[in-house]
Amino acid sequence: MPYPIHRMRRYRKNKTLRRLFEETRLGPSDFVLPLFVAEGLPSAQAIPSMPGVQRHSFSSLVREASAARSLGIPAVLLFGLPRKKDAQARQAFNPNGVIQKAVRLLKREAPDLAVITDVCACEYTSHGHCGILAGKEVDNDKTLALLSKIALSHAAAGADMVAPSDMMDGRIAAIRKTLDQNDFSMTPILSYAAKFSTGFYGPFRDAADSAPAFGDRKTYQMPASNPREALREIELDIEEGADAVMVKPALTALDIIVRAKERFLAPLWAYHVSGEYAMIKAAGKLGWLDEEGAMAESLLAIKRAGADRIITYWAKEAAKLFK
Ligand code: PBG
Repeated sequence: MPYPIHRMRRYRKNKTLRRLFEETRLGPSDFVLPLFVAEGLPSAQAIPSMPGVQRHSFSSLVREASAARSLGIPAVLLFGLPRKKDAQARQAFNPNGVIQKAVRLLKREAPDLAVITDVCACEYTSHGHCGILAGKEVDNDKTLALLSKIALSHAAAGADMVAPSDMMDGRIAAIRKTLDQNDFSMTPILSYAAKFSTGFYGPFRDAADSAPAFGDRKTYQMPASNPREALREIELDIEEGADAVMVKPALTALDIIVRAKERFLAPLWAYHVSGEYAMIKAAGKLGWLDEEGAMAESLLAIKRAGADRIITYWAKEAAKLFK
């Protein structure tokens, strides 16, 4: 006989009481801001499929990162657009490449902001795949050496954490070994552990100029149908030495976040990806939904599912909203 003894609406009576009974809270330190930096760009350039997000020049990168830091955001995640691409992704491990320069610059200008670097080949390869090709396939084991070189060059530039996003088997162990052998045993690895193949990366590929020139990424990224395979990916990466693991995208994988949180003790991050951002932005622009409300609800749902940190293009807006 719960009613009228229990009245759930008491919790919601007014703003004061709603605040008191809030179960999930967000704040600036929950968010990580992804940033794109392009070599040879004189000033920031808008990305049409991601309104509000830019490809940065070195100077606009510093301004944007400093603005994020002032809002209480603890970290940025860097993606680089090199001037030159080739089949071997050589610019990805150039000590004077776009990311290596950007890391040194940010660590000088904003030392207390954590700089995380995306470790992948797709922005640097002429074919747009995430590794070294053998015929039409990405060769897993050859790619491990490349990824290790990229990660080492980022660590040497001063990156606070490296984040491999390629989905090759064994890359966490390979990167860990290379870092350890080169005096970077204290540089942590954030693994894009359960990374799904999805239509929601579309706007990112415009931004990073990283769409595959042929085929797709289905031989390395995970199918949406396989939750147990996703948990095994996470388990293996933790065994190989990942310090933190990521689920990506976020809203279409909330079940994976819930299950991973129950099962593993490692820090669990979620990436609210470009397409998730773009669809709310687009509907908001058309007046079809309330953009801020939809953004806030999405981020709350990701935290509620169990994400310890959320990588989001909305980091600055969300930091203001939830401060
Ligand atoms: C690189 C990479 C991608 C994203 C992050 N790192 C794209 C991809 O795998 O094609 C996507 C991020 C986003 O959509 O916001 N491999």
